[in-house]
Amino acid sequence: MAMAMTSGSLLLGLLAQQAAGQLLVPHSPPAGASEPVPKGASSFSIEFSSVVDYFGNTTHPNEYSQNLLFNLKNATGAFPKIRIGGTTQDRAFYNPNQNAAINLTYETPTDDQPIKVTYGPDFFQSYHAIPGLEFSYGLNLAYNGSDQSTQLSSAAAAACKNMGSALSLSELGNEPDFYPGYPSYNRPPNWTMTEYIREWNWKTGVVTKAMEKECPGVNVRFVAPSFIWSNCELRPCKRRYGVDANGCSYMDTDCEERYGLTDLSMQSLLMNHTGVVGSLAVHLDAARDLSYLGLPYTLSEVNGMALQGGAWTWSMGSALWVVDFALWSTTNNIKRINFHQGTGYRYVAWQPVPVDGAEPNTRPPYYGQIMVAHALGNSNSTRLANIPLPSDTESAYAVYHNELLSRLVALNLEAWYANSTTTRPSKEYTFRIPGRYTTANVLRFMGPGADARSNLTFDGVSYDYELGGGKPVVVDEMGKKERVHVKDGMVRIEVPASSGAILVLR
Ligand SMILES: *[C@@H]1O[C@H](CO)[C@@H](O)[C@H](O)[C@H]1NC(C)=O
Ligand SMILES: *[C@@H]1O[C@H](CO)[C@@H](O)[C@H](O)[C@H]1NC(C)=O
Ligand SMILES: *[C@@H]1O[C@H](CO)[C@@H](O)[C@H](O)[C@H]1NC(C)=O
Ligand SMILES: *[C@@H]1O[C@H](CO)[C@@H](O)[C@H](O)[C@H]1NC(C)=O
Ligand SMILES: *[C@@H]1O[C@H](CO)[C@@H](O)[C@H](O)[C@H]1NC(C)=O
Ligand SMILES: *[C@@H]1O[C@H](CO)[C@@H](O)[C@H](O)[C@H]1NC(C)=O
Ligand SMILES: *[C@@H]1O[C@H](CO)[C@@H](O)[C@H](O)[C@H]1NC(C)=O
Ligand SMILES: *[C@@H]1O[C@H](CO)[C@@H](O)[C@H](O)[C@H]1NC(C)=O
Ligand SMILES: *[C@@H]1O[C@H](CO)[C@@H](O)[C@H](O)[C@H]1NC(C)=O
Repeated sequence: MAMAMTSGSLLLGLLAQQAAGQLLVPHSPPAGASEPVPKGASSFSIEFSSVVDYFGNTTHPNEYSQNLLFNLKNATGAFPKIRIGGTTQDRAFYNPNQNAAINLTYETPTDDQPIKVTYGPDFFQSYHAIPGLEFSYGLNLAYNGSDQSTQLSSAAAAACKNMGSALSLSELGNEPDFYPGYPSYNRPPNWTMTEYIREWNWKTGVVTKAMEKECPGVNVRFVAPSFIWSNCELRPCKRRYGVDANGCSYMDTDCEERYGLTDLSMQSLLMNHTGVVGSLAVHLDAARDLSYLGLPYTLSEVNGMALQGGAWTWSMGSALWVVDFALWSTTNNIKRINFHQGTGYRYVAWQPVPVDGAEPNTRPPYYGQIMVAHALGNSNSTRLANIPLPSDTESAYAVYHNELLSRLVALNLEAWYANSTTTRPSKEYTFRIPGRYTTANVLRFMGPGADARSNLTFDGVSYDYELGGGKPVVVDEMGKKERVHVKDGMVRIEVPASSGAILVLR
């Protein structure tokens, strides 16, 4: 009885504290916390036609990309995974007699994507240029010429032979639910789920046979399907789709919100926790429907907008979107999110090579990836819990390592532009954290404002190409040393509008 009264009044006390603006964060993962987050949960997708740009080759590796990827590995203990694919994977043809690694043919030179890609054996050097990377490899499903089977077979054999252990998964076709009726994909409007399954089973059989013949003993694994819409006629989610894949993979299906809506403000499109929750809800539903398969649910190719992004996606606000999107996904047990990259695209984390006379360039979303990597940290048992906050324009997470509270993440998503003449507002968060913590290192993601494209730092460090070629360069000594005290089990942090902070509890 005494016990019950004690815990009852304790509960009332805690509720009163929450009401007073304190956020109670349990010492161990609460009900509803994520399962352990796999290494490489926040990863990259690289457009097929941009592979050589991003990685270089074995004699000329892209050292800038290598540095940027290594920084992420340094934070989490593992490289991000790399998915190779996208629209151009379905325009790609292997030619064993081609001397050039890759040959891109453009309809109009200024297009984002070539209309045709041919690649020869040297193309596969790119997969060994940065040792230690693991790839999922995109094969062409769309091609329907009379030699489709031999073409696919030779591409699959070449990938197996030349990629070796760097080849982890194969993916057949990109956004196949987009094919029906689009002339460039060679499928009639009545190409349905049934035809897709028949063709997928036939062609993965071709791939498996070719790989097993070329590389005896190889374990051929596929990720599938790679649909763009969740609500289209090909929607597999409510059906058993008969695809024997090792991973269950979808694109970001947020068609209504993300398809080319350049007129939305950065605030509503990218700096909006409610928007992130809404756009991932379809995936969480699909993942639940498919959980009986026992396969990891992943997002094969995502980013903040369709059509390679727009002006808003090249911004600090877009980096904050990366952080909230990655953390909300992983909190809800999505096992991998591949953020899409391509040479010249607007939403990328970095431009790996000179484009239109501009030098290679670290873009704000890279800082978002760095923040995610430091939020997850280097632990083999990272679990996440969301800390509910009242407004659309804020988001917070608790991070557990080995079942104990380790880090806190707070994002102030209120859009504040660099040209503003008003004082930059801040939000203050007070976390009540049971346990014996005394201090917290503050790792801030900071920059001139939501629209800023440069002068960003994470924990006082710049990763800009101009400074260190992507290696960390401390530009803000004070920022790097920032600490806060934990007093009476409470820790307080101010987070300026359009910025974020991680508290590493000690
Ligand atoms: C490797 O990359 C360098 C620099 O781009 C290029 O000059 C060379 O031809 C490439 N090697 C092959 C085999 O493609
Ligand atoms: C790796 O991370 C540690 C700890 O954060 C840091 O001291 C070190 O400089 C980093 N190394 C590189 C190469 O970034
Ligand atoms: C590149 O591809 C185009 C179109 O298929 C072809 O006309 C051209 O000869 C190719 N160039 C090389 C160097 O292979
Ligand atoms: C490929 O698709 C095109 C366009 O739909 C069609 O005309 C052609 O007959 C198809 N080829 C084969 C071999 O199915
Ligand atoms: C699709 O339509 C074509 C004629 O346009 C027809 O020949 C074919 O049988 C149809 N396929 C299916 C699966 O209905
Ligand atoms: C955030 O997005 C939701 C819809 O997802 C919308 O209702 C809301 O107005 C947006 N909030 C802001 C601040 O733009
Ligand atoms: C995580 O697990 C791997 C492989 O089991 C091990 O090599 C590594 O040291 C572990 N890392 C940590 C931080 O425990
Ligand atoms: C301030 O920046 C925002 C975002 O870049 C832009 O939309 C707005 O026009 C700018 N305002 C002024 C007064 O320059
Ligand atoms: C970036 O920082 C440098 C040095 O502090 C400053 O000169 C420059 O104006 C800043 N640029 C922007 C876009 O804020």
